[in-house]
Formats: sequence, structure tokens, C-alpha cells
Amino acid sequence: MSKTVESLSSFPDEVEFYQNYWNKKPFVVRKGVSEIIINGLISADELAGLSLEEDIRSRIVRSGKTPQDWICEHGPFEEAIFSSLPERNWSLLVQDVEKNHPPTADILDPFGFSPCWLIDDVMVSYSTPGGGVGPHLDSYHVFLIQGMGKRSWKIGREKIRKEKYIEGLDLKILSEEFIGDEFEVESGDVIYIPPLFPHSGETIDESMTYSVGFLGPSMAELLIEFGHYIEEQESLNSRYEGGQLDANSSGEDMDESEINNFRTSLTDLIRSDQFEEWLRRYFKNED
Ligand SMILES: [Fe+2]
Repeated sequence: MSKTVESLSSFPDEVEFYQNYWNKKPFVVRKGVSEIIINGLISADELAGLSLEEDIRSRIVRSGKTPQDWICEHGPFEEAIFSSLPERNWSLLVQDVEKNHPPTADILDPFGFSPCWLIDDVMVSYSTPGGGVGPHLDSYHVFLIQGMGKRSWKIGREKIRKEKYIEGLDLKILSEEFIGDEFEVESGDVIYIPPLFPHSGETIDESMTYSVGFLGPSMAELLIEFGHYIEEQESLNSRYEGGQLDANSSGEDMDESEINNFRTSLTDLIRSDQFEEWLRRYFKNED
């Protein structure tokens, strides 16, 4: 077994974290989260309960003999589904659990050294032996906290930039093997995985896994959301009047100077105090 995924005795401090790990390389911390915190988090039964609710994103993934046999079903589910599932080879995954089961937000307490404002959600999965979602990569940073049970993980040694997926599945499973390190985790163990590092987890004993995900907006999302905000603020939402047009402005083509005037208007908006206020609120309220 290679030692490429570093095993740390405790969480790194802020300086070490950003210098050595954030967006750079994975690590594992044994017993990084205390049993007291783990015991206060959502239970498997409560998680199943959430997956019955409208407006809560949930999935059941059944692993097959070959990746082509994997099945992903989306919630909300009927309660009866849980009595029809086999004893092995499936997982239930529920997004945004900390928003719908507030005590689960306690899982964030040990991660003060990370950029908490960038946390998107806490996804919780319950899985039976053999359960998992297959080898994949994510566009977000994640802390994977093992609750009850035992899982084995394979974590890639570097980012994959041109990934290939198995076609025809409602699930993104990498079609090619990746080079990585394999190890097992138990209750309280924490793995950090930066974006684009391939990884694959498989449950050994009936498990709960808590995934704290950090996902920034795309520039399009950011501009669209800021646009909605401007729309509601009369003082910011002035209409272009062409007040600086001159003799060069006639005809079909815009003059270079007018392009610069547009640039200036947009830059002024981004430089305004309101942008700062909006941006801070955006990251606080985003869900
Ligand atoms: Fe993942």
C-alpha cells in the first residue's frame, strides 16, 4: 500500500492547510471528528425519512456486477422502497441535510480551518455492504467524514482533466482505471479530496458517510444572480442612454470608445459597495 495519501495525526492548521493541501492533495485524519459529534448527527432512519420528502434531492444507487448494471433512481421515494431493497450493494444519498436536519450542521464544527463560507451542503449517505457510487471525480472540494461502519476508499494521486465516463448511465462512473491509494476508514475518520481527484468508496460494514462539499459559483451563475439583485435595486439598474455618443457613433458598427463606456459602467457596478454587500450575502444565504 502506497503512502501517497498522507495520513495526518490531526487537522492541519490554516497555514499548512492552504499551503500544502487545499486544491493540491488529499489527506486522511484518523478520528478527526469526535464520537460526541457523530452521535448527534442524522440517523439512517431519519435520512430515509428525508428522502420521502418533496423538494429534497435524494438518490438510491444500486451497484451491479459490471458498471453497466449500475442503477440510479432519484427521490422523492415511497416508504415501501426501503423494504424492497436487498441487504447489500446499495446506497441512499441525500443532499442539503444540514438545512433540513439542523443538528447535522454540527459536523461543520471541526472544520473552522477551512473556508466555511464556501460550503455548499452536507450530503449524507447510508450504504449497505458493497454499496458505493463507483469511481468518479467531482468539481468540488469535499471532506468525507465516516460515521458508523467501515468503508474502503481508493483515492487518486493526481487530478484528471480529461475524464471519460461509461456511456448510457444515469451516473458518472469513470470508464478507465486510475492510479491511487487504497485504505479503510472507520467512525470519525476524515478524508479531504480536492476537485478532480478520482475516488471510489465501497462499503464494508453498513455505513453512514457525511460529505461536506465546497463549491463555488460559475461566472455565469454569479453574473445571473448579481443581475437579479441589480434588477431589484433601482439606483443600480440605470438604463443605457448613449449620452456620450458623438460623430463616430453613426452607422451599423459601434465605436471602440462606446465599448469602453459599457466596460466602465459594468466595472463601476462591480466596484460599488453594493457589490461587496451582495457578494457577502450571496455566500451566506446560498443554498
Ligand atoms: Fe465524490
